[in-house]
Amino acid sequence: MDFKGRNVLITGGGNGIGAATAKKFAGYGANVIVTDLDGAAADSVAKEIVGSGGIALGLKLDITKIEDWNDAATKIHAAYGKVNVVFNNAYLKIVKPAHLTSVEEWDKQIDVNFGGIHKSVITFIQDLQDTNGAMVNTASVHAHFGFLGSGVYAATKGGIVSLSNQLAVEYGPKVRVNAVLPGPIMTRVWDTATDKNFDEAIRGNAMHRMGLPEEVGEAVCFLASDKASFISGASLLVDGGFSAQKDLSAT
Ligand SMILES: NC(=O)c1ccc[n+]([C@@H]2O[C@H](COP(=O)([O-])OP(=O)(O)OC[C@H]3O[C@@H](n4cnc5c(N)ncnc54)[C@H](O)[C@@H]3O)[C@@H](O)[C@H]2O)c1
Repeated sequence: MDFKGRNVLITGGGNGIGAATAKKFAGYGANVIVTDLDGAAADSVAKEIVGSGGIALGLKLDITKIEDWNDAATKIHAAYGKVNVVFNNAYLKIVKPAHLTSVEEWDKQIDVNFGGIHKSVITFIQDLQDTNGAMVNTASVHAHFGFLGSGVYAATKGGIVSLSNQLAVEYGPKVRVNAVLPGPIMTRVWDTATDKNFDEAIRGNAMHRMGLPEEVGEAVCFLASDKASFISGASLLVDGGFSAQKDLSAT
């Protein structure tokens, strides 16, 4: 895959899947704009890319704030020009059953997981149209399956699949929009997981292991690349067969 001369914006790029994907895009020659709520984390990933010979810029961007999006657009246009790829990946998950989730906690998760994509469209759809660009949005296997304490998070992930379809129709043929649906991926999200959580995650997929953030990154690069030129409105599972295998007793 070749992203030389293409400008790729990543949200939630300071850690985990976003950081791994930023490094993958950089390896394929892109100018990567690593953004995160945690500006220092974004900077550190960008510095790591530059240190290994790539091209990157770190920016603080809280995806719920339209002023942060506007500020990012000004800086990116000055540094690199129009954006060719947007990877909407940042998220918020508050694990609680629905009846114990406050209205504020509920609304905040919708604002981050859903509203962030809306604001990316407001800010960068013109760039994507002008460059025949691509958008990739991170959903999850939670879009399809129920997990304890994950109500509103799962609903936003299901919504991201529908929204990606809608955006694909709305902005095609110039812009392709796809969703990636990770299964259990070894990021800091799993730092507090118990042996039982790992056991269920690992036995629950056909590969019998946790996925790596780089494996999601590779799929994102593919969906954003010219190699996926006739793929739009797709939902690509990167879950090691988690969705294919529901009977844990079978392993
Ligand atoms: N790790 C998994 O097992 C898994 C499984 C399915 C889906 N996902 C999805 O993958 C994506 C990345 O998850 P991860 O595991 O890499 O998490 P992570 O916590 O390692 O990284 C998420 C990043 O998002 C940033 N962020 C949070 N709120 C933000 C905001 N308002 N604005 C900008 N940035 C913000 C955080 O600072 C962090 O750097 C998420 O969309 C998540 O739902 C992860």
